[in-house]
Amino acid sequence: MILVTGGAGFIGSNFVLDWLANGNEAVVNLDKLTYAGNLDTLSSLKDNPKHIFIHGDIGDRELMARLLSTHRPRAIINFAAESHVDRSIHGPSDFIQTNVVGTFNLLESTRAYWNDLPEVDKTAFRFLHISTDEVYGTLDAHDAPFCESNRYEPNSPYSASKAASDHLVRAWHHTYGLPVLTTNCSNNYGPYHFPEKLIPLVILNALAGKPLPIYGDGQQVRDWLFVKDHCSAIRRVLEAGQLGETYNVGGWNEKTNLDVVHTICTLLDELRPRADGKGYAEQITYVTDRPGHDRRYAIDARKLEHHLGWKPAETFETGIRKTVQWYLDNQDWTHHVTSGQYREWTAKHYGA
Ligand code: NAD
Ligand code: DAU
Repeated sequence: MILVTGGAGFIGSNFVLDWLANGNEAVVNLDKLTYAGNLDTLSSLKDNPKHIFIHGDIGDRELMARLLSTHRPRAIINFAAESHVDRSIHGPSDFIQTNVVGTFNLLESTRAYWNDLPEVDKTAFRFLHISTDEVYGTLDAHDAPFCESNRYEPNSPYSASKAASDHLVRAWHHTYGLPVLTTNCSNNYGPYHFPEKLIPLVILNALAGKPLPIYGDGQQVRDWLFVKDHCSAIRRVLEAGQLGETYNVGGWNEKTNLDVVHTICTLLDELRPRADGKGYAEQITYVTDRPGHDRRYAIDARKLEHHLGWKPAETFETGIRKTVQWYLDNQDWTHHVTSGQYREWTAKHYGA
């Protein structure tokens, strides 16, 4: 079996659902269930004996030792993290605690477990760390996309904490020989995306008749990767990645934020027109920019394509249509996740 951490969050839950849909190998899913973790997402696995959910923290060494010796996974995929840049600006402490200290503790628990494995299991074992393109900093309009050899220049508390975790993972390989792999991917989007992030926030605010907040001039560029493509890339890296290597994962879909928001508005105009006959783009509102806002991210994913034969299946146009349709079809899920703590966050961040 494999062990996934953070498998009740956006990417982790998509990965768990995809993994079990694509094969027979069981998954132990360890998640702390922070505001971003949601068991509703995994409700289709309620009676599936191949999914074992454990409520806990990656930094809890006692729990990890017990869990590893009981389930004896052949691989660990570490998704668990605090992931939202804006929250890291309001309060960086949880980011240091989970992303840095938590990853350190997880590496130590893994090392102890791995050291005691029989030789054949030790050789086959993998620790796959899920990271971000944000560790490379920001690009100007004409710069080449980020390669794996780019210098780390993180700019936000979030990206700095992820950069630190990447360095720890690298060092545990170099010093202790732990068989690690790291992926650095661009902005994911798709089903079960928590609506604090741009795409789901805009879809839900549009439907609720609320403002669609654009930070600054809206000309910041992100590369967008459909989450299921990310899941297939992770499966491929786990299967065939070279130990100690890092792989960039991207969608070849650079868009300005304003373009993304206009695309969503146009899709909603088609799929769920406003009752007053006006376009959703009327709800676009320019708000104060994010402090230290990175201007552009772009990913060069050729290493993954050339070495491991992976390419994304979705274009932005196909993926965003599926995503908007998913949110229209799954309003129960969104009602559940947008209560209580979520309202407190939006009130604090966007004001009344
Ligand atoms: P998310 O915030 O949706 O989910 C994170 C999950 O981790 C939640 O279920 C949360 O409960 C869990 N968690 C948090 N702290 C934990 C702890 N101490 N122990 C155990 N579980 C804990 O995040 P996501 O968007 O799914 O991102 C997953 C990973 O991918 C993160 O490492 C993130 O940095 C990385 N990443 C995300 C994106 C993106 O666009 N979302 C892009 C690049 C990289
Ligand atoms: O690049 C990968 C990263 O992508 C991941 O490592 C992070 O975990 C993930 O959250 C995401 O970070 P971003 O900051 O790029 O994503 P977010 O959805 O928060 O914002 C996308 C862009 O949209 C960014 O330029 C900020 C802008 N934005 C965001 C929000 C929430 C707005 O203009 N208005 C908003 O209300």
